[in-house]
Amino acid sequence: MQKAHIITNISDIKEKIGEIKCSGLTLGFVPTMGALHIGHESLIERANTECDAVIVSIFVNPIQFGPNEDFSKYPRQLEQDREICSKYGVDYIFAPIEQEMYPGKYVTEVVPPALYQDRLCGKSRPGHFNGVATVVLKLFNIITPDKAYFGEKDAQQLAIIKKMVQDLNVPVEIIGCPIIRDADGLACSSRNKYLTKESREKALTLYKVLQAHNLDLLHPDIELEYFEEVELGQDKFFAIAAKVDGVRLIDNIRL
Ligand code: PAF
Repeated sequence: MQKAHIITNISDIKEKIGEIKCSGLTLGFVPTMGALHIGHESLIERANTECDAVIVSIFVNPIQFGPNEDFSKYPRQLEQDREICSKYGVDYIFAPIEQEMYPGKYVTEVVPPALYQDRLCGKSRPGHFNGVATVVLKLFNIITPDKAYFGEKDAQQLAIIKKMVQDLNVPVEIIGCPIIRDADGLACSSRNKYLTKESREKALTLYKVLQAHNLDLLHPDIELEYFEEVELGQDKFFAIAAKVDGVRLIDNIRL
């Protein structure tokens, strides 16, 4: 198995992308913050089936984390992630350091419309979606993919990215991919790594609440943030967010 190449700077990845495009190949892109799990694998697999070449980015984006969030302890495991990418024949992993993406002190930000971000996760994470939209637009401008793949678990993020691409005429097709769940029903997330066995049992009640549409099923120790029916653009879903023993988790089901 050939190992996926890791590229850390913008000019080098652009050179490789130039070669891909010169050969007339289509390019699929999976943006991630690493700590890859089977949810990411499903995105990579889909990109592989639909595109000739695939690039995965791994960048824990500081500007989408609030001051009291888990930026410093967010799981970082580049070599493990590389193994996964290699298994799927990913052509390049773009893994820039912070200085490469944000060399200056001040950053021009993309600000998604209030209607899209003043609710759900945007309410408790002010500035989060500015950070997401900004880094995703930067990555699109660097990678210039034909198609980009995002999980439906981050339903609000997906709706915001679709809206940004439409409003700013970004020449990329956005593909939303279904939520992948572990056998016990828990939606895959890099943050599941923080859960103890006991916390995980409690976390399972999030999906039960969504399925039965009944908040009484939520484990009493869980700190609920929201449970709402939302329509954002073309997407309509029931969404839930909660802290389970200090770990913030989200889930949703499409309507
Ligand atoms: O969903 C994520 O992992 C991140 O929000 C993304 C889209 C890679 C931007 O940093």
